[in-house]
Formats: sequence, C-alpha cells, structure tokens
Amino acid sequence: GCLRRLHTVYQSAELPETHRMLRQTCRDFAEKELMPLAAQLDKEHRFPAEQVKKMGGLGLLAMDVPEEYKGAGLDYLAYSIAVEEISRGCASTGVIISVNNSLYLGPILKFGSEEQKHKWIAPFTGGEKIGCFALSEPGNGSDAGAASTVARLDGDEWVLNGTKAWITNAWDASATVVFATTDKSLKHKGISAFLVPMPTAGLSLGKKEDKLGIRASSTANLIFEDCRIPKANLLGQLGMGFKIAMQTLDAGRIGIASQALGIAQAALDCAVDYAEKRMAFGSPITKLQAVQFKLADMAVALEGARLLTWRAAMLKDNGKPFTKEAAMAKLAASEAATAIAHQAIQILGGMGYVTEMPAERHYRDARITEIYEGTSEIQRLVIAGQLLKAYRS
Ligand SMILES: Cc1cc2nc3c(=O)[nH]c(=O)nc-3n(C[C@H](O)[C@H](O)[C@H](O)COP(=O)(O)OP(=O)(O)OC[C@H]3O[C@@H](n4cnc5c(N)ncnc54)[C@H](O)[C@@H]3O)c2cc1C
Ligand SMILES: *[C@@H]1O[C@H](CO)[C@@H](O)[C@H](O)[C@H]1NC(C)=O
Ligand SMILES: *[C@@H]1O[C@H](CO)[C@@H](O)[C@H](O)[C@H]1NC(C)=O
Ligand SMILES: *[C@@H]1O[C@H](CO)[C@@H](O)[C@H](O)[C@H]1NC(C)=O
Repeated sequence: GCLRRLHTVYQSAELPETHRMLRQTCRDFAEKELMPLAAQLDKEHRFPAEQVKKMGGLGLLAMDVPEEYKGAGLDYLAYSIAVEEISRGCASTGVIISVNNSLYLGPILKFGSEEQKHKWIAPFTGGEKIGCFALSEPGNGSDAGAASTVARLDGDEWVLNGTKAWITNAWDASATVVFATTDKSLKHKGISAFLVPMPTAGLSLGKKEDKLGIRASSTANLIFEDCRIPKANLLGQLGMGFKIAMQTLDAGRIGIASQALGIAQAALDCAVDYAEKRMAFGSPITKLQAVQFKLADMAVALEGARLLTWRAAMLKDNGKPFTKEAAMAKLAASEAATAIAHQAIQILGGMGYVTEMPAERHYRDARITEIYEGTSEIQRLVIAGQLLKAYRS
C-alpha cells in the first residue's frame, strides 16, 4: 500500500542548501510520524497534539518567524516547503500549521506593536500553543467586508459581540485574531482587528463541524457575547482591519497552495506505487498508455503549480507585490490537487474507493483547498482584477 515509506524520486528546480535540508527533515518526519497516523487522526477527528509538539521541538513550526521572537528566522519559501511536506503526510496537520503561521502569527508580525509581538508570538513558539483567525461569519464568507460582529469601546476595554463561523483551530487555540466593526457607517473601512486570548469570558465555541476532509483539524463558530478585552488588544490602527485581513490572506494563500501541493504529491505517489504493482491483462498497469498519460498530466499540473507557489513565496521574500501570484498559486494548486486526487482514485480502481488506501482521504482533503482563504471564484476575481489593472496602467 501507499502508507509504507515511499522513496519518492521527484525532483525540483534547484533550491538553496538550507531549503533542501529543511525539506528532507520535514519529509522524513512526515513519512515516519504522520503518514502512518493520518488515517486514524482523520477517522477519530483527533488533533495531532504529540506530533505538533515534536515538530515544534525540531524547529519545524516557526520557520518564517524572526529569531528575536523565538522563530527559526527562515523565509516564506522555507515555510511553503515545510507545509507541503507536512501536508503530504497529513493534510490536517498542514492546515493547522498554515493557519497558525500565516493567519495568526503573520498579521501580528506585520501589524503588531513591539509589545504585542512579544506577548502574542513568543509564548506560541515550541508547538504547545496555536492561534486562529476569525473573519468569516455565518452570513458572509466571500463578502468579508459585510462582517457584522461589532466592537464597542467601553472605558479601557473593547466589548465584542457577534458570531464568527468556520474557524480553523477553534477548539485547540490559545488566542485568535478577530475582525469586528468599530464603525458601521464606514462599511469595510470601519472594520478593525483585535487580539483575543482563549478561553476568555464572553467567548464560547460552537460545535465541532463534521467535515468531509481535514478532519483532524477542528472547525467551529466563535461566539462573542459582551466579550471584554483590554484596549491595548487592538491590532494595527482603528479601521485598518479589512486591509489587515486581505494582506494576511494574500500570504495565507501561499500556505494553502503548499498544502494542496502536499496532498497532490501524496496522491501521485500513491497512484504510481499502486500502478507499478497492479497487474491487469498480464502486465503492470503502468504499461498501459492510458495510465501513463494520466500520470503525465498529473505530474505536469503538480509541477506547474509548485513553480507558481514558489514564485509567489520568493516575491514575498523579496518584498515585491505578490497578491496576483499568490492567488494564481492557490488557484492552480488547489485545482491540481482535486484533479490529481480524482485521477489517483481512478488509477487505484476499487481500491481507490475504500479506506484501506489513502487515496480516498486525499480526495476528501483536497476539496477544501478550493474553498477556504477565498474560493476559486474569488481567486479568479483577484487575478482578473490585478491583470486588468496592469493592462490599463
Ligand atoms: C473547513 C473550513 C475551514 C475554514 N477556516 C476558516 C478560518 O480559519 N477563518 C475564517 O475566517 N474562515 C474560515 N473558513 C471560511 C471560508 O473562508 C469560507 O467558507 C469561504 O471564504 C467561502 O465563504 P462562504 O462559505 O460564506 O461562501 P459564500 O461566500 O456564500 O459563497 C458561495 C458560493 O458563491 C460564490 N461567490 C460568492 N461571491 C462571489 C463573487 N463575487 N463572484 C463569484 N462567485 C462568488 C463562491 O465562490 C461560492 O461558490 C473555513 C471554511 C471551511 C469550510
Ligand atoms: C504556532 O506558531 C508558533 C510560532 O511560530 C510555533 O512556535 C508553534 O509551534 C506553532 N504551533 C503550531 C501547532 O503550529
Ligand atoms: C453578515 O452575516 C451576519 C450573520 O452572520 C448578518 O447578521 C449580517 O447582516 C451580514 N452582513 C450583511 C451586510 O449582510
Ligand atoms: C451585546 O449583546 C448583548 C446580548 O447578547 C447585549 O445585551 C449587549 O448590549 C450587546 N453589546 C453591544 C456592545 O452591542
């Protein structure tokens, strides 16, 4: 089966030595510690607490966090590589890490005061704590500017009211970045970002959502009812929340693209491994051109998406605009992952459809990458908007 260690031969464009070493460490960890466990975590909806802690010990979780806040001080490319390798072993673990890094730590690093960085980042290093990001609401996801959770200043405290929906890591988190309206009349320009410790009075969790895939990561509503937080917990300037959310998602999309690459690679590995051994009409099915053509198309989609993802990460690392490139990477990688996982099941035939093999889980896990951090439709809107702007300027 595909659960045993695979000696994958996939090559990539030249990476710096640090990144190749990191990739090897993550790959070894994923093959040894995550792959054998992923099916069970999925089945039991179990948060991989031990594995996350071990990864923290190996320095695999705070890759892109500067050393002064106890991170590894590497770049976003390194982070992308780590998320891909980890997701290849377990896609749930991939998103747990991606949300913590891109969506929780990212905006604090970029918009937080020095004091906030020390308070809300350093204690999170080591793998024992995790953060979440609360933007979507039951009534509005793609239209994030319509968010209706409110924050009202009362003396030295902000009072939060409203419900956030679909929050990844909700049940396992020690803090959240949350977006709330401080001035309704200003529409999206009246939204601000806040740091909220978890648990805290006035904040309760909804039920754990029973999901198609990434079942080892928790997803739930965050319900704020007169939830009081110190005035100092405003992140960035008043009214800057929408901008913070959008810039955070630009970076987050590179993380989700990387997660999709990991799922796609796992599905391709599984398909090749199975096809080499499966006999039909007297020979392994890899002898069949129909199967070879599928494998070729899967490899092209995967490697193309990986190059787009690495390019977006490198642009970010070089301080260049990367909104369009991150949306392209996320769109290409998520559509590649769903297509590749679909074909992997086809290549496995009946064995693709049962839980003895991981192909059905890859298929379920891949699907979410086309939905969260902006659906594929929203990515296309972002790409077209950027494209037209460039042509018109
Ligand atoms: C497992 C999971 C984890 C998630 N984690 C988080 C999280 O941690 N934090 C968080 O804040 N949110 C999270 N989300 C929410 C996620 O980002 C939203 O589900 C997503 O943005 C889509 O929003 P929606 O579900 O409200 O769909 P809607 O916005 O209602 O969209 C429904 C359909 O309409 C389409 N559509 C909407 N607007 C347009 C448009 N202008 N043009 C073309 N098509 C359009 C969409 O593409 C989609 O196909 C998560 C969701 C899931 C399922
Ligand atoms: C969350 O991020 C912090 C800081 O980078 C890291 O040390 C911690 O281990 C991360 N936790 C998880 C579960 O990824
Ligand atoms: C956003 O969704 C909430 C419910 O979650 C709803 O109360 C609110 O009216 C919506 N905002 C707009 C502008 O429709
Ligand atoms: C928050 O909601 C509660 C009811 O749950 C209400 O009593 C209170 O006035 C609201 N506060 C704000 C700031 O809107």
